[in-house]
Amino acid sequence: MDSLKVADIWNRNAEAWTVLARQGYDVYRDFVNTPAFLAMLPSIMGLKGLDIGCGEGANTRELAELGASLVAIDVAPTFIQYAQAQEHQDPRGIVFQVASATELPFDAATFDFATAFMSLMDISNSEKAIQEANRVLKPGGFFQFSITHPCFDTPYRQSLKDAAGQEYAIAVGRYFEHTDDRIDEWMFSNVPAPLRQQWPKFRVPRFHRTLSEWLNLLIGAGFMIEALAEPKADDAIAAQCPTVADTQIVAYFLHVRCRKPLN
Ligand SMILES: C[S@@+](CC[C@H](N)C(=O)[O-])C[C@H]1O[C@@H](n2cnc3c(N)ncnc32)[C@H](O)[C@@H]1O
Repeated sequence: MDSLKVADIWNRNAEAWTVLARQGYDVYRDFVNTPAFLAMLPSIMGLKGLDIGCGEGANTRELAELGASLVAIDVAPTFIQYAQAQEHQDPRGIVFQVASATELPFDAATFDFATAFMSLMDISNSEKAIQEANRVLKPGGFFQFSITHPCFDTPYRQSLKDAAGQEYAIAVGRYFEHTDDRIDEWMFSNVPAPLRQQWPKFRVPRFHRTLSEWLNLLIGAGFMIEALAEPKADDAIAAQCPTVADTQIVAYFLHVRCRKPLN
């Protein structure tokens, strides 16, 4: 699937995604992923950063709150419009612009750090996106990203439940398959029925790669892997938001920080 088609699909998702995420329905992001991502992030106070695949900009705003100066890009113009409108209302000095991760409109060695929250596995040429992230970083800069976990969010995936209906395991399969033409359809889990009728399901192109392929892409682009995390809800979070309790069974997300060597 080419990146123009991916951009068009995401642009069609953007309005519903933004409205529902801003109403609190992106619970895996809010309760698990973003807190874990920020916990792993080195200090970015005073640094210049690029957020790749920023969507409506919620995570970019979190980074700005930590004292960084941010540029954020996304391939979907509607997401960028929502992000810019929010920036206009409540300025944090973030520059949002439409661009593709595979052709970043920035000079080499522009940024101290780059981030990509849950976007790399949605990009049709992740190899080029990782090379581009490396190119725009200054020597010594870091790139931190989150993706769905390649070992557990596989092309075949089935949740297994006990007699009481309690989920206890995940069956995974077709791990080695590249899903370059697959589009999954889904909606945030907690959206109530009346709201579901108002919005179409998201259509999400899937570009599955194995764990070793992901890590080898980073190494091939010249990065040194520095930190890894597989976040899960703790018991208090699982009690507060039972939907995300399934992150205690297997890891649904993989967080990686890697660094461009100084020379
Ligand atoms: C799951 S959303 C994550 C959005 C946001 N980072 C967040 O955490 O809420 C994936 C994002 O990747 C973007 N995307 C897909 N292909 C892209 C590309 N080639 N360049 C930039 N962004 C891309 C989509 O438009 C979408 O906003």
